[in-house]
Amino acid sequence: MNIEANKIAGAALSTLLVVMSLNMVAGIVFAPKKPAVPGFDLPSAEPAAGASAAAAPVADEPIAVRLAKADPAKGEKAVGACKACHTFEKGGANKIGPHLFDVYGRAEGAVAGFNYSAAMKGRNDKNWDAEALDSFLKNPKAYVPGTIMAYAGMSRPDTRADVVAYLNTLADAPKPLPTP
Ligand code: HEC
Repeated sequence: MNIEANKIAGAALSTLLVVMSLNMVAGIVFAPKKPAVPGFDLPSAEPAAGASAAAAPVADEPIAVRLAKADPAKGEKAVGACKACHTFEKGGANKIGPHLFDVYGRAEGAVAGFNYSAAMKGRNDKNWDAEALDSFLKNPKAYVPGTIMAYAGMSRPDTRADVVAYLNTLADAPKPLPTP
């Protein structure tokens, strides 16, 4: 009985010994090389710079530059998607959104009788100039956080300029647009 127990204990011990020595040998063979200076070697600065330039979004041309080549007729075609919510003609009613006749140069959130969001109501010190309209149409929720205008945005910079130019025609006396 005792001898059997000793055999088992011996077997267990020698297994442990084998595992430990294997571990030591592996440690020697696969010893990690520690660099003199900790850190990563970048392949070179050039590909990194190229990669970040490719990843960074290209900035839109200033709205004044785009307006110089904008076409109000194209803008009129581009506002089809807005007509579910807005009227554009003089004396037009408010729908889901406020009427947009005379919107260029108008104070933001200023149509009487339209129930704007709190976010838009809080902005009536700002005017819908070319830059404001361009930013709002690009991404309404970024320009007016909390707006209730359920429109994702118009991504094409030139189309937005066409729309701004068109909106400016919706007035008894269109205002001068900014020039580059
Ligand atoms: C789904 C409905 C909807 C669509 C589509 C929509 N709008 Fe609006 N729009 C609104 C609402 C609602 C408001 C008021 C937002 C608020 O109070 O936050 C608004 C506000 C505006 C304002 C601010 C007006 C003011 O008096 O301050 C402008 C400018 C505008 N929209 C332009 C557009 C244009 C241009 C398009 C198409 C490219 C468009 N909207 C598409 C619903 C819409």
